[in-house]
Amino acid sequence: MKEQLEAIRKAAEKELSAVKLPSELENIRVKYLGKKGELTAILKKMGTIPPEERPAIGVLANEARKFIEQKIEEYGAKLKAHETQIKLQKERLDVTVPGKRHKIGNRHPLTIVLDEIKDVFIGMGFSIATGPEIEFVKYNFDALNTPQNHPARDPQDTFYVDDEILLRTQTSPVQIRVMTSQKPPIRIIAPGRVYRSDAIDGTHSPLFHQIEGLVVDKGITMADLKGTLDSFAKAVYGDDAVLRFRPHHFPFTEPSCEMDTMCFVCHGKGCRLCKGEGWIEILGAGMVHPNVLRNCGIDPEVYSGFAFGLGLERLVMLRFGIDDMRLFFENDLRFLSQF
Ligand code: PHE
Repeated sequence: MKEQLEAIRKAAEKELSAVKLPSELENIRVKYLGKKGELTAILKKMGTIPPEERPAIGVLANEARKFIEQKIEEYGAKLKAHETQIKLQKERLDVTVPGKRHKIGNRHPLTIVLDEIKDVFIGMGFSIATGPEIEFVKYNFDALNTPQNHPARDPQDTFYVDDEILLRTQTSPVQIRVMTSQKPPIRIIAPGRVYRSDAIDGTHSPLFHQIEGLVVDKGITMADLKGTLDSFAKAVYGDDAVLRFRPHHFPFTEPSCEMDTMCFVCHGKGCRLCKGEGWIEILGAGMVHPNVLRNCGIDPEVYSGFAFGLGLERLVMLRFGIDDMRLFFENDLRFLSQF
């Protein structure tokens, strides 16, 4: 029996040394140590040997079991280490290889300039206000002192949703929304999309962007309007920017004006960019009409204010020398990736 045990030990070890897969280890365990295994078979025959030899054989059998168990564990660990090694090899990562660059795109030229303008006004203590693009007729026109028969209200020029709702034709209705929900002092700009029923060409689009400005406080005068817009123009066009204010008419401001900058290409002489004028029109502005203040529950005897509205597309076209407005909306990467 002693020899038999010794033989089993040897056989088991030999088999184990040839093992390549972890699953084979389990087969060996069953074969030698399992209920019907070889070692178990021997232990079952213990009854046939003389009682005085049993303890010694028992010790040997236990040793053989322990030996085989230990070997199985050893080989198991070895296999695992080997597998890990292979896996590491396979998943080897060279962190010194240069990465693949992902194209993350860039800001739209309209956004670039808008961000710049926001910065300028935020720097002067303004905050950003917004309003809906689908707007009430009464906010877009009535509250802005724009009478029933005003040409801007013509269905030819304006996209009506129904009698009371339209796509806003200007950002000026945000003035009404701000003045009816905030108390002076008010200092906001309101950038956003506006809509007019224009055919698309190089200088017209049914959708474009405006930036509205509104300041309401005690003692605000035309001087504040000019000073603010002068600072704005210098920040955007440089310290040598020269401005010109011309009288104009808007229903919701009185007095009203338009602001031009001296052409920065020809410096007033007249060239192709300014169409021989020497000046480039930038925005419309004026002192908030007393009727508009009253419509918003603000007493024009106590408060006054100024407002302005500028078209973003024109400004961006001048800045980057873009000669066709359609380029802004066509999403052509050859154009967009230039900024
Ligand atoms: N809303 C006017 C326009 O679209 C511009 C403007 C705004 C004029 C505010 C005066 C004051 O032409």
